[in-house]
Amino acid sequence: MALPTVLNHAEPRASLAPFRDFVNSFDPVVSCGTVTELIGLLIESSGPSAAIGDFCTIHTQGGRVIRAQVVGFRNGNVLSMPLEEADGLSLGDAVIARPGAATVPVGPGLLGRVIDGFGVPMDGPPIEAAEFCPLYRPPEGPLQRAHIEQPLVTGIRAIDGLLPCGKGQRIGIFGGSGVGKSTLIGAMARQSEADVSVIALIGERNREVRGFIEHELGAEGMKKSVVVVATSDRPAALRVRACFVALAIAEYFRDQGKNVLLVMDSVTRLAMAQREIGLAAGEPPSQKGYTPSVFQLLPKVCERAGNFNKGSITGFFTVLVEGDDFNEPICDAVRAILDGHIILSRELGAAGHFPAIQILDSVSRLQSKLATPAQKEHSRKIREALAAYRQAQDLIQLGAYASGSNPRLDASIRAREDMMRFLRQDSNEPSNLAHTLDALGKVAATLPA
Ligand SMILES: Nc1ncnc2c1ncn2[C@@H]1O[C@H](COP(=O)(O)OP(=O)(O)OP(=O)(O)O)[C@@H](O)[C@H]1O
Ligand SMILES: [Mg+2]
Repeated sequence: MALPTVLNHAEPRASLAPFRDFVNSFDPVVSCGTVTELIGLLIESSGPSAAIGDFCTIHTQGGRVIRAQVVGFRNGNVLSMPLEEADGLSLGDAVIARPGAATVPVGPGLLGRVIDGFGVPMDGPPIEAAEFCPLYRPPEGPLQRAHIEQPLVTGIRAIDGLLPCGKGQRIGIFGGSGVGKSTLIGAMARQSEADVSVIALIGERNREVRGFIEHELGAEGMKKSVVVVATSDRPAALRVRACFVALAIAEYFRDQGKNVLLVMDSVTRLAMAQREIGLAAGEPPSQKGYTPSVFQLLPKVCERAGNFNKGSITGFFTVLVEGDDFNEPICDAVRAILDGHIILSRELGAAGHFPAIQILDSVSRLQSKLATPAQKEHSRKIREALAAYRQAQDLIQLGAYASGSNPRLDASIRAREDMMRFLRQDSNEPSNLAHTLDALGKVAATLPA
């Protein structure tokens, strides 16, 4: 930090204020410890004096500085996990607590940039910080939250028409691998009417990050986005930190009065990173090896989105459904926390139906507040028709259904192609709300009341 140079001779007392702030910003006590053990991913040290979640730096004898995060304590010693490769670490290395490091520099210059889990740009010069936002702060209390009443138009017909999403709502996108989760969130980040999109790519493959930025998001989407990246090869503690960096940035823009779209791809990989940390720190594994701290982390992350008096953070959280098992522990936990879920189906994807949204299994818990009476009515008719078709699907495909025996099913079969055309959409072809509602009404008009 540069020493302030402003001296105002007319008002000597006032001109000392910057110097006083400068001196006050320093902690004169530096807490230091030494490395005593390293097992797997876990560094044990006697000291420094630090709290859980605090950051520290380890100064190796070879001159490297390794950043680490405190994850626990054992027999009076501090347990920490490195945020970067721990090569060169040796016994007796100094560990210094950095209590001020749990912040991220933020400012309008973040828009259009790609940053890593430390908050450092990966694509060019440093960001000019307007302020420093804390990574860890408790989610706002229930009474600080405003009602969710305004829809956030995503540009995706199936969502805006049948699963409307509100400003400040939190929705999970659930699907197996390769069914189009990333493509869908990319399209939403590009097309939605949110002022800013903050996209956290946690545990993705290296190859996919560039593809996502250049193809899914594109130059136009990138202009109003901030992308936070921690790929699968980065240490677990950094992958979790990246998620908090994205939350802090989203909160910064929200405090400026913006409607922010926060996208986290994927929550499953975040949970896996926390499991890695928990197991290394000696937590007992429970369901599928996930440790209790994973289930504590998930609501902490998801609850930081919401509608507030200043602005809103609408959250889209992708959940990788392993082996297409929708009852696995992370799916269950996330579904219970959020205000809606969109289920992507492998069957639809395999048939070339994109976005592969399984409408009948998906729910927006705020639909009754966000949709107009006409939209609710149209949506009910379409859901009924889709359900009737699904029930009789086997018979229809076998040719065992005799047309005329069920008039409702007949109408559903006749309207099937129109419904599918409404639900299918190219990811480069946004649809505005007026057009979506008009098309929804036209499809519903062919169905019985
Ligand atoms: N709207 C779409 N239109 C056409 N093809 C699509 C669409 N969405 C997805 N796909 C196809 O599905 C493939 C996988 O999509 P995507 O990478 O988005 O899946 P994913 O669920 O994020 O996968 P992973 O679990 O590996 O992260 C894409 O390469 C593309 O071929
Ligand atoms: Mg993906």
